[in-house]
Amino acid sequence: MTLVRGFLADTPSDPFRGGVMRTESDGGLLVRDGIITARGGFAVLQQEWPQEPVLDLRGGVVLPGFVDTHVHFPQVRIVGSLGMPLLDWLQQRALPEEARLADAAYANVVATEFVTGLARAGTTSALVFGAHFPDAVSALFEAAERVGLRVTSGLVVSDLVLRDDLLITPELARQESLTLARRWHGHGRLRYAVTPRFSLSCTDAMLASCADVLDAVPGALFTSHVNENPVEIAQVRTRFGTGYVDSYDRHRLVGRHTVLAHNVHADDAELRVLAERGAVVAHCPSSNSGLGSGLFPMRRHLEQGVRVSLGTDVGGGTSFSMLREGLQAFFVQQLLGPAGVPLGATELLWLATAAGADALGLAEVGHLSVGRRFDAVWVRPAPSSPLEVPLRHAESETDAVARVFTLASPMDVAGVWIDGDRVHG
Ligand code: GUN
Ligand code: ZN
Repeated sequence: MTLVRGFLADTPSDPFRGGVMRTESDGGLLVRDGIITARGGFAVLQQEWPQEPVLDLRGGVVLPGFVDTHVHFPQVRIVGSLGMPLLDWLQQRALPEEARLADAAYANVVATEFVTGLARAGTTSALVFGAHFPDAVSALFEAAERVGLRVTSGLVVSDLVLRDDLLITPELARQESLTLARRWHGHGRLRYAVTPRFSLSCTDAMLASCADVLDAVPGALFTSHVNENPVEIAQVRTRFGTGYVDSYDRHRLVGRHTVLAHNVHADDAELRVLAERGAVVAHCPSSNSGLGSGLFPMRRHLEQGVRVSLGTDVGGGTSFSMLREGLQAFFVQQLLGPAGVPLGATELLWLATAAGADALGLAEVGHLSVGRRFDAVWVRPAPSSPLEVPLRHAESETDAVARVFTLASPMDVAGVWIDGDRVHG
């Protein structure tokens, strides 16, 4: 057993429904076999368990491990291609790079770069948009397993619109997906996600094959993109004759196991469907800003009862840092004025941790409560970090977490644990 000591902060319940941030300025967590078995003030816990070795994480903040609910594995090398709208960016930057993952050796190296990026940023769980090639998807799962990350991912499938070398038939997509799911779903911390790229690049036959795979793999997630860019949305409407949400919903692909990224331009009827089905929208504010996709209507989502989580959307997004993503979410809501949702440190921490765990159905993580797994990130200012002075002068514990979201970078991530094992730092 280990007694973890530090400034603890987490959000066990939804702040959009009255939940508050929970903090312990000199807190303790007793961790046994990766599970938190006691929690309280450090002094009290040490009195009760004086023999246990202490893991001293004082100086900085101990937070639950971050949960990134939308991030693309094959795009780690193209982060920072600034200045293009979605469809141009896909054609000129993302898809040429994704085609290179046909080479298994190349995919292996990219997979290692990708999981290293996640762990260094403090991300312990992620719903990862995979690759168009089965061997590349296996390379990702293998790399995630080596690090110990909780990764849900799958084969990205499309049979239209994209360059030819990224297309597959619905029947082959079904077979390859089932083969991958049999190998990886439920293997350690890994799970399978059925992943059509977006309905714009899929026929109804392909989306029907996705529904077959989802039916055949109990506990699998479904993920894709929705309502990201006005040009894309108009093309979806022309082809399917319906709204974007319905292009998935008519194939029974929208439910509690569903995470759809973006949803910047949804109408109220679509929000009602998402809420009724219990689906999650992964908000990706850096990507929405970088690709000029638009300002996310978070208030309308929350008012309609749609579940919302946070995703970095690397490489449309600009970094692996869920802290930076939280800050960008804050900026976007500020820019919406009265139509925006005022996001404080509590809401940002919720979105970066427990909301993501809830979105991915990971009941074992998301906050630092007794019974949960010890997935945690220790943010402590690196030498000469811009975070150092403002953190030392924070006016309250909540304010300290706000400063972490504002100023911390992966350089300040001093340690990361999954199931009690240190995976970085
Ligand atoms: N829609 C379809 N593919 C993509 C992608 O790779 N990134 C983003 N942001 N949107 C998409
Ligand atoms: Zn995406």
